[in-house]
Amino acid sequence: MAGYRRTERGAEVMMRDHVEVDGVDGQRLTDRLGRPVEDLRVSLTDRCNLRCRYCMPREIFGPDHAFLEREELLSFEELTRVLRVFVDLGVSKLRLTGGEPLLRRDLPDLIAMLAALDGVDDIALTTNGILLPRLAPELKEAGLERITVSLDALDDETFRAVADTPLSVQAVLAGVDAALAAGLTPVKVNAVLQRGVNDDQAEALAGWARDTGVTLRFIEFMDVGTTNGWVRDKVVPAAELVERIKARWPIEPVAPGRTGEVAERYRYLDGVGEVGIVASVTRPFCRTCNRARLSAIGELYTCLFAASGHDLRAVVRDGADDAALRDTIAAIWSARTDRASELRAEGGLSGPRVEMSYIGG
Ligand code: GTP
Ligand code: 5AD
Ligand code: SF4
Ligand code: SF4
Repeated sequence: MAGYRRTERGAEVMMRDHVEVDGVDGQRLTDRLGRPVEDLRVSLTDRCNLRCRYCMPREIFGPDHAFLEREELLSFEELTRVLRVFVDLGVSKLRLTGGEPLLRRDLPDLIAMLAALDGVDDIALTTNGILLPRLAPELKEAGLERITVSLDALDDETFRAVADTPLSVQAVLAGVDAALAAGLTPVKVNAVLQRGVNDDQAEALAGWARDTGVTLRFIEFMDVGTTNGWVRDKVVPAAELVERIKARWPIEPVAPGRTGEVAERYRYLDGVGEVGIVASVTRPFCRTCNRARLSAIGELYTCLFAASGHDLRAVVRDGADDAALRDTIAAIWSARTDRASELRAEGGLSGPRVEMSYIGG
């Protein structure tokens, strides 16, 4: 039975009776569409050592761009406290993102603090992989469980054009090897395909992933932010990609491992692992979206396509106690109606929205 409860701060919070999650007052917090908050994606910095054209085009994210200052960022103590409250409200999956999260100084210390949180089942991190050869063993030691590496091409020329870098693919491959060697497994690799840019890399990437023992996930190019020059014609639809992979290696769909999983999974019939596709443009999955995002300065975003976030840092720095912080978050989540990818499919998205490098994937 769903019902509303008035909190200490006067906000109306929608509560659902539910046994498995120990949310507010032993009940489960859900949003207006009945979706719980289970997965929190935490951006640790808005900076990156690459300039992928679809994410941080150099014309915008150049020397004049105002990146966040260090003092603005939530400290590790503040972050851990905020995350503890999210866990109390139902979050059990944490994903650390950026920008490039490995640029955050003393990251292993933060991982160790988060690994000690009760109620967290899964801590993962999304990285471009460049700094993994240096950091992978320390991250594992600190308690990080697994890693996702972004890699959009295996061919140097394409990689350099997409990531706008003089580095070679080898720099990322070394990162993947380091993650595997350190036991940050299962290692997943995200590839964003754009028609006419790197869509010719799909089979090479799939073959490499099979040989390497990593799970590849293709991501449909999304209109996140407003600077990446997105046009629908550049999206390679999941359906097309499935046919291409099938033509090379027979595959069959696998049932989702859990509700809210973003990737559609396929198993190679020869037994050599799986491949996934995140089809947020052609097959939106907002219906089961249990994801919240926290920017590096502590703003809560309830959707990847939101125009703005809710300032939790101000609440924390104003001296709110945990109960007040929890009520604030619960009030925001319970008012949530986001379904941007479905709206796009129904007719289009408009208006300003945050850049992905600011809140991460
Ligand atoms: P696993 O737990 O390893 O399966 O990770 P995940 O399913 O959370 O996937 P990951 O974090 O690697 O996300 C893959 C990509 O899917 C992201 O980088 C985004 O590009 C996209 N994605 C993730 N969450 C959302 C979402 O809520 N909305 C949309 N539109 N895209 C998303
Ligand atoms: N569309 C799809 N995926 C994107 N990513 C970044 N920008 C976009 C976009 N516009 C991916 C990155 C990384 C993850 C965090 O999100 O490649 O794998
Ligand atoms: Fe950096 Fe990842 Fe964005 Fe590329 S996609 S610019 S690696 S944050
Ligand atoms: Fe969730 Fe927004 Fe992505 Fe839909 S578009 S799945 S609501 S983050």
